[in-house]
Amino acid sequence: MPQNIQAIRGMRDILPLENRYWRHLENCLLDVAAAYGYQEIRLPLLEQTALFERSIGGATDIVEKEMYTFADRNGDSLTLRPEGTAGCVRACIEHGLLYNQIQRLWYWGPMFRHERPQKGRYRQFYQFGVEAYGMPGPDIDAEIIFMSARILDLLNLRGSLTLQLNSLGSQAARASYREQLVAYFSAHHDQLDEDSRRRLSTNPLRILDSKNPTIQTLIAAAPLLTECLDDVSAQHFAKLCDLLDTAGIAYQINPRLVRGLDYYGGLVFEWTTEELGAQSAVCSGGRYDVLVELLGGKPTPAVGFALGMERMVALLETRLQLADSVNAYLILVGQMAEEQGLILAEQWRRELPGLHLQVNCGGGSFKNQFKRADKSGAKFAFILGQDEIESQTVSVKFLREERPQLIVPISDMQQFWQTQR
Ligand code: HAM
Repeated sequence: MPQNIQAIRGMRDILPLENRYWRHLENCLLDVAAAYGYQEIRLPLLEQTALFERSIGGATDIVEKEMYTFADRNGDSLTLRPEGTAGCVRACIEHGLLYNQIQRLWYWGPMFRHERPQKGRYRQFYQFGVEAYGMPGPDIDAEIIFMSARILDLLNLRGSLTLQLNSLGSQAARASYREQLVAYFSAHHDQLDEDSRRRLSTNPLRILDSKNPTIQTLIAAAPLLTECLDDVSAQHFAKLCDLLDTAGIAYQINPRLVRGLDYYGGLVFEWTTEELGAQSAVCSGGRYDVLVELLGGKPTPAVGFALGMERMVALLETRLQLADSVNAYLILVGQMAEEQGLILAEQWRRELPGLHLQVNCGGGSFKNQFKRADKSGAKFAFILGQDEIESQTVSVKFLREERPQLIVPISDMQQFWQTQR
């Protein structure tokens, strides 16, 4: 016997029962994107490796350890996208979408990171992302956060999540903060673990993300970025906080929030949960005003976020009961019924709005067909047997209610459906 071939570790199949929750989430995301006037952009899964090295940053975990990078048949170094922002900026520059214009865009699709798989963390995972270009002020930062809050409201999740905010300030402010951090952590060099020592020279801000308890104690006493914040960034951040207060969106300012991608400056934010273990961020983003120029475009302010769709689905599954969309099942008894039933079903699908009808195919006893009808989740079983064919009727059985069976003339099915569904 040949050995079974299994899916790659960290790359999941999403089966029908779970897909109900995905569809529910996707419908909500489409509604919100439209409600805020964002347009869809579809981007390739593969990009040149240099795009991610230059944008996310060579000293980040993503670029150092997590990318799926390989040489294609021409010897070019390609990478499966670990996130959507870099590709979105690349496409906008390439197609002149940022030339003297603003853009509000959204995308969704799979991203790839070679992380250690665990609950809520996969190697292929889906993001829904939004990116806004050409607007420098706190108004668009607020809009982006309002939009994320609106998604959570529609899914009844906002109350279970915490919004954390920080401002990373200007490049100059970050440079001076970096110096202070290097001085501070160097003074405690003997207490640092190997990872943090490496980061001390490559990317000291990332030490603040360490989950190591000893380092966390050190971090608690480290200098705060807030103390180095430049006036312009401080005012921008204060205005944003005012707008959130006015809109009634609660938040916590977390001066340790730095995020794992180098392109951020100014606002960074995360919606977090305690329900998914270590994978607490369900939606995160911020401002990245330097990136367009870094990738060869004209300087363009930019802000956005991405939401982890698996993590949202995991939260929805513990809260929602979603029914299957099949609402009627057609039981066919006898050869005449089998032949006519298929054609009748076509007619009903044309004429009965909202009918999601599963027809029994492949025969089976009445009892078996009835079991399948029940399993389909349908509310009604339509039964077509010899008697019904002769009298041009359908027997209707209510599968979820204690109600007597009905006999409905085929010619009255439209009326029946209007009153019963
Ligand atoms: P990120 O924080 O790396 O940001 O990812 C965004 C979200 O994707 C996270 O909050 C999390 O919910 C989800 N996520 C990340 N890694 C995984 C994984 N391995 N498994 C499951 N879910 C995951 C970005 O990617 C930025 N591009 C966001 C952004 C857009 N910033 C501005 N615009």
